[in-house]
Amino acid sequence: MQTTDNDRTIFRTLDEATPGDWRVILRAETADRVKRTTGNRLLDLLASMQNADSLGSPVNLYTHSLQTATRALRAGEDDELVVVALFHDLAESLSDNHHGLVAAELLAPWISERRTWLLVQHVDFQQFHFVNHPTADRHARDRFVGHPFYAETAHFCQFYDQNSFDSAYPTLPLKDFAPIVQRFFARPRPPLKPLPRAC
Ligand SMILES: [Fe+2]
Ligand SMILES: [Fe+2]
Repeated sequence: MQTTDNDRTIFRTLDEATPGDWRVILRAETADRVKRTTGNRLLDLLASMQNADSLGSPVNLYTHSLQTATRALRAGEDDELVVVALFHDLAESLSDNHHGLVAAELLAPWISERRTWLLVQHVDFQQFHFVNHPTADRHARDRFVGHPFYAETAHFCQFYDQNSFDSAYPTLPLKDFAPIVQRFFARPRPPLKPLPRAC
């Protein structure tokens, strides 16, 4: 039974997929990566949040994300950290407690172990700055004291993340980050790797 043409498979279930089908799919996935679409898709996702409700915050997640990335860029951080800053809260509208883990899952193939760890754990580190929050444990990060990635994660939260709710700050527009994102995702995707556990 023929289940493929040149560029599209026609199986109904994965059980039916033939070796030829899988060749078509793997070829298409590889071509997709060559076109460097991952970064553009993430940019589109972020762009879709532009008019989202701020849910009581001074700025919404879109502006907060851009401002976090702007601060990282202006501090002279490398492309990887700027990309991490730009997308660190991409999933917060979908997953509150685990939004760092989701962001890490999205970016893990392309980013280093320490920035993956930063993304997963920034949720706990950020709580250190919830000075007047009625219930948050400000010292949730303390269980990581002595961890080799502790200092950078604390720095990220203090100087780029927790202070990026300022509606008067000159935040750069999303288009200014597009070349950085596209440059960053232009590399071949490394193999998948396991994530650190959130807790
Ligand atoms: Fe966050
Ligand atoms: Fe944030």
